Amino acid sequence: MSKARVRALRSVELGFSDVDRSLRFLTEVWNLTHLGEISGVHYLRGTGAFHHILTIRRMAQPALIRIVLDAADRAAIDALHAQVVAHGLKAIDPPGKLRQPHGDYGFGCKDPEGRNIAIVCGVHDHADVADKCDRPRKLSHVNLNTGDSEATFSCYRDALGFQLTDTTKRLRFLSCNGDHHSIVLGFSGGPTLNHIAFEMPDCESVMRGAGRMRDDGRGLEWGPGRHGPGNNVFCYFLGPEDMPVEYTAEMQQVDQHHRPGTPDDWQWPPGRLDHWGINPRPSDRMEAAGLRYRFTDDGYRLDEWR
Ligand SMILES: [Fe+2]
Repeated sequence: MSKARVRALRSVELGFSDVDRSLRFLTEVWNLTHLGEISGVHYLRGTGAFHHILTIRRMAQPALIRIVLDAADRAAIDALHAQVVAHGLKAIDPPGKLRQPHGDYGFGCKDPEGRNIAIVCGVHDHADVADKCDRPRKLSHVNLNTGDSEATFSCYRDALGFQLTDTTKRLRFLSCNGDHHSIVLGFSGGPTLNHIAFEMPDCESVMRGAGRMRDDGRGLEWGPGRHGPGNNVFCYFLGPEDMPVEYTAEMQQVDQHHRPGTPDDWQWPPGRLDHWGINPRPSDRMEAAGLRYRFTDDGYRLDEWR
């Protein structure tokens, strides 16, 4: 029997200490659309189909609650659950019925380093999916630091069905659909969040977004540039409560014929880390913020969705 695979990165759930300020930023500056609030949780969408791509709620310390992945149907959820159990993961909230807008069926688990993941199917998504210039479509990828990179990588590959598309000296790039990467795993930094990337419809939108961030008093922390693996255009910023965020566009599309690159394929000349070399490396502030966000203890439990 072939391996079950997740098929998309759907959303990320975050806690901020000042929800009002964060919500203002995410709607007026980052250009997401606020769908509303249920029991203290605010739901934000992009222009793409996914019902929401971000939720935020109040927490004493800013934190990452969970990463939500999409599966095709109940059979895929059950098969992924079996793979997670077979992989030896212990903290699991087993498959069961969910309430909209979270889906109709799903489960939660902690990965080997304690990151909270939810895998869902049957979400009632949006039919209006036309691109709008300067507004994010969806999450592009989540970049995660690791303590035990091998253990985390083997879980995402063997239990969740991600495919390795590239490896550099610092990062592994993992794909679960046509996008070159939806999850990126570093080789250091412990189980913390490096950054969350939002997909813009085009390069023009990334640049307009950078200008709007500057208007909001938030300078570029890295970029504009074009990454090696994925070939995507990027600009990095610090969002609310120093949340490390990226606008990106033009992500490389891959298929089964893609040959994963190796660190030898991604050698840069001294003083640069991307194709353009306009801004040679992330700021120290960005590097520090990219170690700050941790996962909550109990975010793998989906009680509030059932
Ligand atoms: Fe990124």
